Amino acid sequence: MVENPSYPNALDAMRRARLRTVSVPVTDTGWDIGIVASTLRQAVPRLAYLIPDFHNPTGCLMPAPQRARLLHAAARTGTWLVIDETLADLALDVPAPPPFASHATPGGTGQVITIGSMSKTHWAGLRIGWLRAPARLVTELAGQRVATDMGGSVLDQLLALHLLARAGELLPPRLEQLRGQRAALAAALAEHFPQWTWRLPPGGLSLWADLGAPVAAALAEQARDHGVRIEGGTHFATDPGIFEQRLRIPYTAPPDTLREAVRRMATALAEGLSPASTTPRPHWIA
Ligand SMILES: Cc1ncc(COP(=O)(O)O)c(C=O)c1O
Repeated sequence: MVENPSYPNALDAMRRARLRTVSVPVTDTGWDIGIVASTLRQAVPRLAYLIPDFHNPTGCLMPAPQRARLLHAAARTGTWLVIDETLADLALDVPAPPPFASHATPGGTGQVITIGSMSKTHWAGLRIGWLRAPARLVTELAGQRVATDMGGSVLDQLLALHLLARAGELLPPRLEQLRGQRAALAAALAEHFPQWTWRLPPGGLSLWADLGAPVAAALAEQARDHGVRIEGGTHFATDPGIFEQRLRIPYTAPPDTLREAVRRMATALAEGLSPASTTPRPHWIA
């Protein structure tokens, strides 16, 4: 079971592994936990991949009671929850949420695998991630990894340890920087695209803008000619042809760059859009 929309590289990994997926919607207001529970009940999936903390691309944060209900529903169907906490520390307007697994009852029935990485809090070039799971499963997964790349770079891991030890000092300025970039992006969008709507996410790295018309792919393509690389909503969809009116706009660049990018997008739109090319393009989403 996956969310729709979701992180494209995760969806792609599932396609490559030939997993059959069932999806649950994540809207601007988050999850309908009733739908999540009934989907679990009806489909009885072996695995559910979710991003409850500042969901990519919507930015939604799953409330605590929904987390408890999800755990309960998954325990009943024996579904393993793969919880992606990559964005969890990027809490801009709210306290950082406690780890999802902390909602599980001690020694209880829930089966949770938590995954996270240094990419969003520190640097995506530092290819360090982790998972937290029952010890036997960790051993099994570590064994599987040997067949692909043997293991992570020790130097990178040492650097990550050093950064994690200084997280209390390094994270606050990073969050402050992101708040400033988010504000700059929101102001530029309001100026150049007053007809678009979006919700300011409480955390995470991007706005999930609604353009009011299914032009996101065409705009993304045209913007590319103006040196702006941006992804339309279909890129985040579980099935083709949906979220064509959505654009995910990250606020990961400095304010001036964001203002210039929005100005160029407005120029691209003013030139008029040709239908989006159907030629597949490589995935670059970060
Ligand atoms: C939800 C989510 N998980 C994982 C990743 C990728 O993390 P990494 O760079 O560590 O592979 C991203 C990057 O955008 C993401 O949004």
